[in-house]
Amino acid sequence: MKALLLSKYRHLEIADVPTPAPAPGELLIRVAACGICGSDVHGYDGSSGRRIPPIVMGHEAAGTVAGVGAGVAEFSKDDRVTFDSTVYCGACAFCLRGEVNLCDYRQVLGVSCSDYRRAGAFAEYVVVPARIVYRLPDNLSFAEAALLEAVAVALHAVSLTPVAPDGNALVVGAGMIGLLILQALRAADCKRVLVADIDKSRLKLAEYFGATEALWAADPDSLDQILQLSGGAGMDVAIEAVGKNETVGVAIDSVRKGGSVILVGNISPEVTLPLQKIVTRQIRLQGSCASAGEYPRAIELISSGAIQVKPLITAIAPLGEGQQRFERVYAREPHLMKVVLTPGPALRTMDSLISADRLRLSPAPAEVWGNTWHALWRKPGLTWCSPVAIAIVYCLLKRRLGRSGAAQFLWNSTSANLRAFRGWLQVRKRPLAIWISW
Ligand SMILES: NC(=O)c1ccc[n+]([C@@H]2O[C@H](COP(=O)([O-])OP(=O)(O)OC[C@H]3O[C@@H](n4cnc5c(N)ncnc54)[C@H](O)[C@@H]3O)[C@@H](O)[C@H]2O)c1
Ligand SMILES: [Zn+2]
Ligand SMILES: [Zn+2]
Repeated sequence: MKALLLSKYRHLEIADVPTPAPAPGELLIRVAACGICGSDVHGYDGSSGRRIPPIVMGHEAAGTVAGVGAGVAEFSKDDRVTFDSTVYCGACAFCLRGEVNLCDYRQVLGVSCSDYRRAGAFAEYVVVPARIVYRLPDNLSFAEAALLEAVAVALHAVSLTPVAPDGNALVVGAGMIGLLILQALRAADCKRVLVADIDKSRLKLAEYFGATEALWAADPDSLDQILQLSGGAGMDVAIEAVGKNETVGVAIDSVRKGGSVILVGNISPEVTLPLQKIVTRQIRLQGSCASAGEYPRAIELISSGAIQVKPLITAIAPLGEGQQRFERVYAREPHLMKVVLTPGPALRTMDSLISADRLRLSPAPAEVWGNTWHALWRKPGLTWCSPVAIAIVYCLLKRRLGRSGAAQFLWNSTSANLRAFRGWLQVRKRPLAIWISW
């Protein structure tokens, strides 16, 4: 099978590796979508030390059952499924208590460290124990399902300190995880959710997802604003989703006496703590790691629309573009949120791109246009009018994205998706939709 192999740090290549076979109790999954996680990026350059090459990374995935190991009765071939990123043993004291995220024998898919090596899902197939697999409802696309892991992380963090319905909460960091925590808080009926970030485009997304107030954390007055908005006493709960010294400090400074700080971010190995403040104000510090049993709820919340993940998907690209896509995430390209790689046939990308476009996140539309360009060329019988079509598309493109966007459009044509273009026009309700809807 084909797999995206990290053969050395910062070098990914498509390699032919043996297709794994499911052992008793395991399932062979044909991977349809697998998201690039921040931890994969920290593994890619070797900084985390948890992706020692050679390794196939990837743990945020979904697909269909392609093979069933002996003794597995709950699943059969072609079932649409996702799976936990944590492979837990199911038998240790923690697992028996339901704290599977703390399993003594915990392994994470796509991780190789000094303790273990476990192939991940940036490949056509992956093998996982059936106990970590969940069935997907039909209305949940594979690309959305690839974000379930992050949603489960957010639900777990929120579950650790329930907020009273009339309570308030602060989320520090409006990245992937922070925005999902915000939505998880809203889904848990928390009426007032403040979100702080230093990136204004992320704050825009926070507003879109229902933040009561989105605060620019680079403003020296932001802490005063938080306290003011809480009525002076401080927030009931602060959930930290960045993982730096200063943001942990903000979270602690923002909560009221007796309040709770949930620590989710962990990019820094250590931070300093205002010990006396924590003790005398009786602040509870609570770490939150991965998830423990939140997948079914996460599936329910996405399929009901209570939590939206489509706007967080910036791009869906074939596995073959893995190296290039990793480099772009690694380079912290602006407006990039989740990139989903597809080892199998291309997925329809339009829905996510439309959502991103509505939020005016600039790179996404260029891909729509790129696809359209390709589609126009490939449509049989269109050759004679291609120059006209190109001219029209170019004019539209230039108006929306400017000259550089137009250039991007020309180079970005990677896959044919005419329906995508039509869909985009219909959403935009442009009269041109009539012309193009042949
Ligand atoms: N505990 C867990 O189970 C778990 C799971 C996944 C991720 N994480 C951690 O959660 C954190 C966030 O992950 P992510 O994927 O959302 O990352 P991300 O890079 O998408 O988001 C981080 C956000 O923090 C913001 N930020 C940076 N400095 C800031 C500051 N000084 N003040 C306010 N905001 C600031 C950035 O602008 C960005 O929006 C990371 O530390 C990651 O390791 C933890
Ligand atoms: Zn992850
Ligand atoms: Zn266990």
